[in-house]
Amino acid sequence: MDLSTEYMGLVLRNPLVASASPLSYTVDGVRRLADAGVGAIVLFSLFEEQLRKEAALTARLVDQTSESFPEALDYLPAVAMEDAGLRRYLNLLERAAGTVEVPVIASLNGVTPEGWTDHARAMQEAGAAAIELNIYYLPGDPHTSGRDVEQRHIEILQRVKSAVTVPVAVKLSPYFSSIGEVALRLDEAGADALVLFNRLLQPDIDPEQLAVSSAVALSSTADGRLPRTWIALLRGRVRAALAATGGVEDPTDVAKHLLAGADVVMTASALLRRGPEYAGTLLDGLSTWMERKGFATVGELRGMLSVPAGADETEYARTGYVSALRAANARAQGPW
Ligand SMILES: Cc1cc2nc3c(=O)[nH]c(=O)nc-3n(C[C@H](O)[C@H](O)[C@H](O)COP(=O)(O)O)c2cc1C
Repeated sequence: MDLSTEYMGLVLRNPLVASASPLSYTVDGVRRLADAGVGAIVLFSLFEEQLRKEAALTARLVDQTSESFPEALDYLPAVAMEDAGLRRYLNLLERAAGTVEVPVIASLNGVTPEGWTDHARAMQEAGAAAIELNIYYLPGDPHTSGRDVEQRHIEILQRVKSAVTVPVAVKLSPYFSSIGEVALRLDEAGADALVLFNRLLQPDIDPEQLAVSSAVALSSTADGRLPRTWIALLRGRVRAALAATGGVEDPTDVAKHLLAGADVVMTASALLRRGPEYAGTLLDGLSTWMERKGFATVGELRGMLSVPAGADETEYARTGYVSALRAANARAQGPW
């Protein structure tokens, strides 16, 4: 069984990628993911905002200390404070990339234009095989126009592309009026891959504590449907590679994303729930399914169930919707 594949020009031993999560917080965590068999690893995101908060906190602490020990400032100059978090991330990246055989992709969530470009450049220098832009942007100001949000994505991509030579992927949120057009624009602006979709933190309310809670929920199989729908529509319509992220719980979910047209299938929740070694189970299951269906390579099945070239996409989406409703109705009425 040949599971080898290509993603943004990177040659991977298989299409299963560990997506950004706390499992890559340490070199040991990265090694466990690689040992479990994944084709590539995306490190957790470097958040520029977090670096700034940490630096501000340290500055305040040093300020308080320096009232009694003025020399404390000499030990912790401002620049060093700002860079400490960044250096931690780059150090991990460098060691991870030097330890495992599979490509290590760095993930970046910037705030300022320089934050995006400087950090991306530093990631490349530290050994990132590629950079994934985690453009986690929730336009909280209700006056922000949709076009502005889209333009922001394009500009970030263009800036980073001009700063690095390694491939650049864009991890998108699903909250655009026309995801297809945004995907085409990013493709045109040079995205090497589109990662569909980011899950934005959706705060909840705890009625007992009368407080807002912000825990990140793990996904379930049903979460795979939205990325799969868009991957099936975009397959063959963009030059960029397509990565599915969301809803991989068992090997059939991996197969479904590939059939829709994903170049690679990412997984986080399943590995967090069951441990990194579960990647091996996903891969074994994929091979078994391929064998049963008579596929010898991933290339033979990839995109088999994507929206065919030349099809009227609008009609296709409508028809798909109508037939899904019909199937749901039939199920609701049941055989009784
Ligand atoms: C605990 C946790 C932490 C995550 N951290 C990041 C992150 O740092 N950067 C990022 O781009 N995505 C992050 N994600 C999102 C995942 O990479 C992934 O895209 C999402 O969970 C959907 O995939 P899944 O259904 O396989 O979990 C995180 C997800 C979880 C559950």
